[in-house]
Amino acid sequence: MDLESLNLKIKKVKYEAKEGELNEIDAASDPLEQFVGWFEEALQHESSDPTAMVLSTIDTAHCPDSRVVLLKEVTPQGFIFFTNYRSNKAQQLDMHQVAAINFHWPNFTRQIRIKGRVQKIERQKSDEYFATRARGMQLAAQSSPQSAVIANREELDARVQAMEAKFQDQPVPCPEHWGGYILIPTEYEFFQSRKWRMHDRLAYRLGDKGWERVRLAP
Ligand SMILES: Cc1cc2nc3c(=O)[nH]c(=O)nc-3n(C[C@H](O)[C@H](O)[C@H](O)COP(=O)(O)O)c2cc1C
Repeated sequence: MDLESLNLKIKKVKYEAKEGELNEIDAASDPLEQFVGWFEEALQHESSDPTAMVLSTIDTAHCPDSRVVLLKEVTPQGFIFFTNYRSNKAQQLDMHQVAAINFHWPNFTRQIRIKGRVQKIERQKSDEYFATRARGMQLAAQSSPQSAVIANREELDARVQAMEAKFQDQPVPCPEHWGGYILIPTEYEFFQSRKWRMHDRLAYRLGDKGWERVRLAP
């Protein structure tokens, strides 16, 4: 398809704002409580995976870099995801221990933006989570030098085969270079789309006196 035809198709895509409101009177004063409320609704009614979130980090040239990862746990401290500690994102997090995550739940036309500090979780927690993963995924984590340039697909398959042979009839241990991070929030924004783009946006910012909530213009 040429770009002209593609752009005609883009023009025809209709953005549908779902009915919904986010008012100060209903929103929780604690942003984690607000997150939990919306997350529960997304778990029930969202057709896409509500745990998928865009994680943005800062690269060596101070350029933002984004990719999707899965939210695996929410604690009172923050939001946990798992990855390869040698990946691009991990190297970026070594340099700048800050990140943003973004959840988009189209069935509600909602998004939640969260910024915060990021740190590795305890090794034991990563080991425990790794042990619950399917063996195929464990072998993949052992085999794949995530984000590195590789020659071809065959190289990857050969690496997996080598790991299968290495751990034959044995449990696959969590590699040292694989584990979780926690994003500890300093800022949240809850966005609920409304008619004529007059959306509701409530932001929570962590200050000396705890969370302060403000309304942002759409
Ligand atoms: C739906 C979806 C879920 C993903 N979940 C994860 C995840 O939980 N952890 C992860 O390391 N990569 C995950 N990925 C792959 C990442 O988007 C990315 O390709 C990979 O982590 C390498 O990123 P990096 O080179 O920026 O480090 C997922 C991709 C998709 C599309």
